[in-house]
Amino acid sequence: MKYNLSIPHLSDDKRELKYIAEAMENRNIGSVGKYIPEFEYAVRKLTGAKYALAVINGTSALHLALLAVGIGKGDDVLASTFTYIGSAAPIAYVGANPVFIDSEESTWNLDPNLLEDFLKARSKRPKALILTHIYGQPANMDDIIMVCGRFGVMVIEDSAEAIGASYNERQCGTFGTAGIFSFAGNKLLTSGGGGILVTDDKHLIETASYYASNAREPMMHHEHNSIGYNYRMSNLHAAVGLAQMELANERIAARRRIFAEYEKAFAGDGRIKLMPQHSKARGNRWLTAALFDSIEPKKLMVKLANQGIETRPLWKPMHTQPVFADSEKYVNGVSERLFGMGLCLPSSSQMTDEQVRAVAAEIIGVLDITG
Ligand SMILES: Cc1ncc(COP(=O)(O)O)c(C=O)c1O
Repeated sequence: MKYNLSIPHLSDDKRELKYIAEAMENRNIGSVGKYIPEFEYAVRKLTGAKYALAVINGTSALHLALLAVGIGKGDDVLASTFTYIGSAAPIAYVGANPVFIDSEESTWNLDPNLLEDFLKARSKRPKALILTHIYGQPANMDDIIMVCGRFGVMVIEDSAEAIGASYNERQCGTFGTAGIFSFAGNKLLTSGGGGILVTDDKHLIETASYYASNAREPMMHHEHNSIGYNYRMSNLHAAVGLAQMELANERIAARRRIFAEYEKAFAGDGRIKLMPQHSKARGNRWLTAALFDSIEPKKLMVKLANQGIETRPLWKPMHTQPVFADSEKYVNGVSERLFGMGLCLPSSSQMTDEQVRAVAAEIIGVLDITG
């Protein structure tokens, strides 16, 4: 038996294939076709956002968000340090300077107190914050939005991993000026590579759409006053994305069930700590992540791989990445500690409770032998 970290979960009625076949038959396989607006609408409906733009991946969606709000050369942009590179690279794409802020223990996401201390101490005001909801786990939104509001810092949410996650009943991705979602192949829902930018700001979405279409001016011929990007999603990818969105609730419920099953299996075992959750938050549990204090996680990872169980180290904090060695940071040791102790466990939504229990038993077995 092979246990994957997170593999695509296609629908039982194979609607992904049906929609793709329909798009092919109508020769709508490029940037024109009905599935693009339908996919965008499905994301708007789930999140409550007014506008959505489908693009080639989550990284490009974030790049477009920064371009659309006018962030550029020399600007400072705050960012969660405990995240994936796709969250931080767009800051460099636009020539801005990332400033990495560490996590809090209670959510593993950006620490609002650290953020406040940093902003109090700093005279140059950062233009924006790119806030990640890690592993589909909402950040401490009340406090972060309050601090950012006080200091005039715009919030852009990296909800790449957090489709359907909510805080205080409000969907992640809709708290700030803009939010993005990833539909990469390993995400809770996939379009086989894709991203969606959401916002309530009409001008922002129009500007993002302009940059995503190679900055084509509204003329009959191709006219360009600026440099843009070829970021639009194809109708084929949107066909898959729409089919997946139609089963969003079931898929999210399955990830939550898997987390709950791990929780039961590890209950009372002091050597294993699952990711915490803020009392107002309802994560989508994209990946169940755990900390281990009696074994080095990479050692556990190798032992589990030998049993066909795929795991992955937690994200290596951005402020420790060689490429950002010269970037500013405000840290407290939390994200480095998480990286040093944690693994993501198999969380594919196809997993049965029995399979989760089998993985948990293997993990406990390894800890018993090595501990
Ligand atoms: C936190 C985070 N940010 C950004 C991205 C970028 O998304 P994509 O891979 O679709 O470009 C991802 C996903 O891979 C992610 O996990």
